[in-house]
Amino acid sequence: MLRKLAISTATAATLALSSGAALAAGAAGHVEDYSFPFEGPFGRFDQNQLQRGLQVYTQVCSACHGLQYVPLRTLADEGGPGLTEEEVRAYIEQNFIEVYDEELQDWRTATPNDHFPGSSLENAPDLSLMTKARAGFSGPYGLGLNPLFRGMGGPEYVASLLTHYTGSEYEEFGSILYGNETFPGGRIAMAPPLWEDAVEYNDGTPATVEQMAMDVAAFLTWTAEPKLMARKQMGFTAILMLGILSVLLYLTNKRIWAPVKARAKGAQPAE
Ligand code: HEC
Repeated sequence: MLRKLAISTATAATLALSSGAALAAGAAGHVEDYSFPFEGPFGRFDQNQLQRGLQVYTQVCSACHGLQYVPLRTLADEGGPGLTEEEVRAYIEQNFIEVYDEELQDWRTATPNDHFPGSSLENAPDLSLMTKARAGFSGPYGLGLNPLFRGMGGPEYVASLLTHYTGSEYEEFGSILYGNETFPGGRIAMAPPLWEDAVEYNDGTPATVEQMAMDVAAFLTWTAEPKLMARKQMGFTAILMLGILSVLLYLTNKRIWAPVKARAKGAQPAE
């Protein structure tokens, strides 16, 4: 038994160390600890921020990237960007979102039940689940502990990626790579997509590069985890119920044993 335990502990330690080494070898870059309103046990998505992020995604990122796992109708879901159904239809129309219809063998205007289009640039990854895919990136020695202890994860990675271009360019095998402090390895094939006032926000928020990066990172957190708020609420309710249950159990326990204790006390002569 002890030997088994020792072996499994040793294996776990080796695994942890080697995965840390692997991450470190990828030279996980610098990630800024931005704070987002949806962090922490009581965190919630800021609806205005999600709407601004949708705008940045639509006007900038969607030129290359897709969101193929996200149904357009979910833009109207509770806990998301919270568009009305008319606004979803208007969004589709204004942005000329089309899908390829297998039956018609032709392109047609999307309906709210269709998904966002996929990536239009071959080497640009789909962003639907990106914030989840990049959640476990960092921490001391690349152990991926930051998400756990500092609440840092995918959204911080994405926001940092967009704001930490170094300005240098490199030519490798005939294509241009851009210096980036966050991207593992330090060179990314994505040209800096954001610049000051790349979009004009309706709510008057100044569109600085950092603001847009955080807004789109928040939006991409929602696409990857649309039920985040419901999940947190459920967790909170569960903890509350367990708390009440503990109190009731404590009281019940006292009550059940009270006669026994009283008898025990009575049997012993008082000192
Ligand atoms: C001109 C096309 C283009 C635009 C516009 C663009 N990207 Fe990219 N993006 C790329 C390409 C190409 C890659 C793949 C880079 C690589 O693997 O070196 C990429 C990669 C990424 C990655 C993945 C990085 C990783 O860790 O693998 C993220 C996240 C990302 N883009 C976010 C965005 C966001 C957010 C926007 C909008 C603000 C955006 N991109 C706009 C082309 C683009």
